[in-house]
Amino acid sequence: MIISQDEIQAYIDTPILRLISQTADEMQMECFIIGGYVRDFFLYRPSKDIDVVAIGKGTDLAEAVARKLGRETHLTLFKNFGTAQIKYREYEIEFVGARKESYRSDSRKPIVEDGTLEDDQRRRDFTINAMAFCLNKERYGELLDPFNGMQDLEDLIIRTPLDPDITFSDDPLRMMRAIRFATQLGFDIYPDTFDAIARNRERIGIVSTERITDELNKIILSPRPSVGFILLEKTGLLEILFPELTALKGAETKEGIGHKDNFYHTLAVLDNIARETNDLWLRWAALLHDIAKPVTKRWDPKLGWTFHNHNLIGEKMVPRIFGRMKLPQNEKMKLVQKLVSLHMRPMQLVEDEVTDSAVRRMLFDAGDHIDDLMTLCEADITSKNPVKVRRFVTNFRIVRRKLREIEEKDRVRNFQPPVDGNEIMEVFGLPQGREIGLLKAAIKEAILDGVIPNEHDAAFAYMVEKARELGLKPITDR
Ligand code: CTP
Repeated sequence: MIISQDEIQAYIDTPILRLISQTADEMQMECFIIGGYVRDFFLYRPSKDIDVVAIGKGTDLAEAVARKLGRETHLTLFKNFGTAQIKYREYEIEFVGARKESYRSDSRKPIVEDGTLEDDQRRRDFTINAMAFCLNKERYGELLDPFNGMQDLEDLIIRTPLDPDITFSDDPLRMMRAIRFATQLGFDIYPDTFDAIARNRERIGIVSTERITDELNKIILSPRPSVGFILLEKTGLLEILFPELTALKGAETKEGIGHKDNFYHTLAVLDNIARETNDLWLRWAALLHDIAKPVTKRWDPKLGWTFHNHNLIGEKMVPRIFGRMKLPQNEKMKLVQKLVSLHMRPMQLVEDEVTDSAVRRMLFDAGDHIDDLMTLCEADITSKNPVKVRRFVTNFRIVRRKLREIEEKDRVRNFQPPVDGNEIMEVFGLPQGREIGLLKAAIKEAILDGVIPNEHDAAFAYMVEKARELGLKPITDR
């Protein structure tokens, strides 16, 4: 990577960084930009999150900078940690003093004391995150890279600056971060670093669920999430964090009949859907669509392998998984549940004859999520057989066309009955009760089956006819 000093200087030549520079010079304090902002410059990913490390009290520098920035500034001091944050317009800038940690032989608790820039860099997670640009005027834009992060960026390598056992024991979340960066950036994890993750995997237990889930979501939102899940599996982290997924592994054969390996199938579906959408929850639905296959798997001498009701059991498993992972238990979770529950419907439709009434029922059940359901179901096609795939794709096109036609004609997506319970009660002079429920259900079924159109007058006439079968007459006829 050939990047000139001029390019670095141009990148960091912004009024806010110049102001930090000038302030630090006035205070006779060395100061640097470090971490993600530096890394992302070399990766052409401009960002507004900046980490500043000062050789001295980072909080003093932050206070002085905040005073100069004036009114639009939001300064927060974290006294216990010796850090500060400035929010200014679109920027978020963290300030910290360079630190050094050392271990006394009689205690495992580190002593944290002021240190040099290099002391600070060596305590960071990865070499690519340990590079710094100097901000002092004399050396503005000078790159400080004692752990060869630049070389690792060129070689696409995630590696810890120190012995990985030390780096990971400082903060075991870094094991997840290694896998997340590898997935996001398409990098490899250096063998020593990888082995240390496998060795230290149990230490992930001391990290908070929120931080773990945050990394998991970043993996899921990556261009090819399967990369991350395969690394999680290979290091043994997945078994600890997400045993329901590792249970999907393996393909059993009996009497010459095998089933597919549902772990790799799930990952293929997740990668497929990642090509179609950046929506986190649709991607979660892909990850969980077959989650109940292991618990529903049976061998049937006549049918072979079966996974009866895995969609419905899967729908029930979602809240438990979301709860454990501290994911939101709101309408997003409900969407994931709905998609897991319905994920086979479009395919069943494609396999059978595509009748209007089957399409209408699916539209009714999926409601506003019909497009998401179709996206998931299409992503679920991972067959290697080109003839099969072509047939599915053609039939899918038919289903989509029919969906459009029926939606235009019948508007059943967000079905509101054309004759509602109140009207039925009025017409027959009846209170709320069994008959009203029966009539409402009969109208709905008739519309979904295409017996009558989704219109008031047709539904009214149908209701009167059905009511007669129940021995009921409208008040006006009595
Ligand atoms: N860092 C670290 N160990 C951690 C978290 C962060 O050493 N567990 C250091 C790294 O030097 C990192 C910097 O702190 O670059 C900033 O961390 P953060 O803002 O969390 O991550 P970024 O590297 O900026 O990347 P992203 O925003 O994608 O998380």
